Amino acid sequence: VRDAEPVRLVGAPVVYAHRGASAYAPENTLAAVDVAEEMDVAWVENDVQRTKDGELVVVHDDTLARTTNVEQLFPDRRPWRVRDFTAAEIARLDAGSWFAPEFTGARVPTLRSYLDRVERNRQRLLLEIKKPELYPGIEAETLRVLDEAGWLDEQHLSRRLVVQSFSADCVRAVHTLRPDVVTAFLGTPPVAELARYAAFTDRINPWHTTITADWVAAVHRMAGPHGRVLEVDTWIVDDAATARKVQEMGVDGIISNAPDVVREAVGGF
Ligand code: G3P
Ligand code: CA
Repeated sequence: VRDAEPVRLVGAPVVYAHRGASAYAPENTLAAVDVAEEMDVAWVENDVQRTKDGELVVVHDDTLARTTNVEQLFPDRRPWRVRDFTAAEIARLDAGSWFAPEFTGARVPTLRSYLDRVERNRQRLLLEIKKPELYPGIEAETLRVLDEAGWLDEQHLSRRLVVQSFSADCVRAVHTLRPDVVTAFLGTPPVAELARYAAFTDRINPWHTTITADWVAAVHRMAGPHGRVLEVDTWIVDDAATARKVQEMGVDGIISNAPDVVREAVGGF
């Protein structure tokens, strides 16, 4: 290995619990974080958006309709956009009963409460800034909440936090504001464009149906902004056969609703 070449340590893929262990508990709730912890899954993934009054909350869709009882409580507020509700209104919603009766009473977590739970469980976080184009300034606000919660110290920065987005502008903004934060771009850029991304992202996280072993190898030939090999975490893989297939392609991580199934298939951790 020449000095200039980034070194890549090869092992079984890391397994991430997508929206928490969301095959077994309502997505993006503290219950889903806890189920992942009970399975001994270190990494959880979540989605961050912003309320009308500026609170960062953990929810995937840009409306509250699918994963809460918002239609019942606020029938006149169609289409129930996250950004049209205050934090106090969202705190009243039930984010568990749509999934299964035993989760009735689960809440849409604030980002701060989510971070505190992940911290309490000694887990790690793949934080997605969702639809940043709807929330100008959300990159700086996310970093502020992370900082206030103690998530931008050396230990978290080096081992326990990755910030990702489908928006290259968002990932670039996070990198510019805090170059010490590890970032990931969600997508599958053509090989010819990888160098452009490598200026601001440490990882490239593609949908599993879009990748080949050659593409993964091309990503691994690049070094990111911190001088380390660009890594690949692919999503959403919930079955053993697909998990083994992407493992064969050489991915570094697999993001899964059923992390126990994937871990069993790939021998990961
Ligand atoms: O972490 C990857 C994955 O979360 C991206 O898709 O729609 O589930 O946020 P989505
Ligand atoms: Ca996500």
